[in-house]
Amino acid sequence: MKGGYRKGKGIDMGSVDLSIKLGSLQLKNPVMTASGTCGFGEELAEYFDIEKLGALTVKGLTIEPCSGNPTPRIAETAAGMLNSIGLENPGLNEFINTKMDVIEKFKFPVFVNISGHALDDFAYMAEKLAAFPEIAGIEVNVSCPNLAGGGMAFGTDSELVYRVTERVNANYPGMVIVKLAPNVTDIVEIAKAAESAGADAVSLINTLLGMAIDVDKQQPVLGNVFGGLSGPAVKPVALRMVYQVAGEVRIPVIGMGGIMTGEDAVEFLLAGARAVAIGTATLVRPDAGPVIIEQIKEYMQKHGINRLADIIGKANPDYVR
Ligand SMILES: Cc1cc2nc3c(=O)[nH]c(=O)nc-3n(C[C@H](O)[C@H](O)[C@H](O)COP(=O)(O)O)c2cc1C
Repeated sequence: MKGGYRKGKGIDMGSVDLSIKLGSLQLKNPVMTASGTCGFGEELAEYFDIEKLGALTVKGLTIEPCSGNPTPRIAETAAGMLNSIGLENPGLNEFINTKMDVIEKFKFPVFVNISGHALDDFAYMAEKLAAFPEIAGIEVNVSCPNLAGGGMAFGTDSELVYRVTERVNANYPGMVIVKLAPNVTDIVEIAKAAESAGADAVSLINTLLGMAIDVDKQQPVLGNVFGGLSGPAVKPVALRMVYQVAGEVRIPVIGMGGIMTGEDAVEFLLAGARAVAIGTATLVRPDAGPVIIEQIKEYMQKHGINRLADIIGKANPDYVR
């Protein structure tokens, strides 16, 4: 038909099924918010009905409170942003004491993102969080520097990713998601290490290491010199990595990196992601998550898709489930 699509090819917008299975969890839709871009949930709830989200991942926590990196911590780039927040957070105990009761009220799964500088940090946090069935799982951020190992990020070494995952898994009975860093040569090798150590899912990508220089001051823009690049600029890299990983591991993949629209999200699903997370887009407009959910519905209507789960991995011949 010329001049537009036939309305829904007979599909009623209300009847489309966006639900997906993420390991043992059933999500009403695959759209989550990415760690560090939605606070602890209550901040976003001021802007829209947060129950519309499929799931949420809170800001990265460390054992002790952390004041983060020197300012400036944010720089705009041509198609995205650089951040060097440096894991500013209230610390695990404060989180448990002040945020857990808020999280308990949410009717969708909430994941707690954890960071550490030694294997014992991750193991300790996992053990502490095991006492809180109100959270659906842990997302293990392996992008942080391993202080005992000379400062190289855990996530760049498959052996270390294996050991972190194994320790967290041993101490935590719920879902363990390992969040992969993209600053590596072979993302598949790292994802396989997480899978073989017992991860229930992998999420990718975290930010790409970058920098900006102020030509007037003739100095780096960020107080920390280097920062993480996110937003539309990273989407093609993120999509490629999700495609590669989803073709090689059997555990679910949560895709993220530069998703700004429903069609961006659909690209990740077609590549083999079972769920997607929205990061920088939420900083542009806080209700990006529900907007993207509506855009996914429109895509389904346009293409006559009843069940979103049916298109997962469709563009990826190596995706076998
Ligand atoms: C301001 C900011 C803070 C972030 N903080 C965290 C964090 O605490 N833990 C983490 O694992 N990822 C963190 N991330 C990475 C995001 O969760 C996401 O992986 C990345 O930004 C790519 O997605 P996007 O392009 O949609 O933003 C942060 C990203 C941004 C922009």
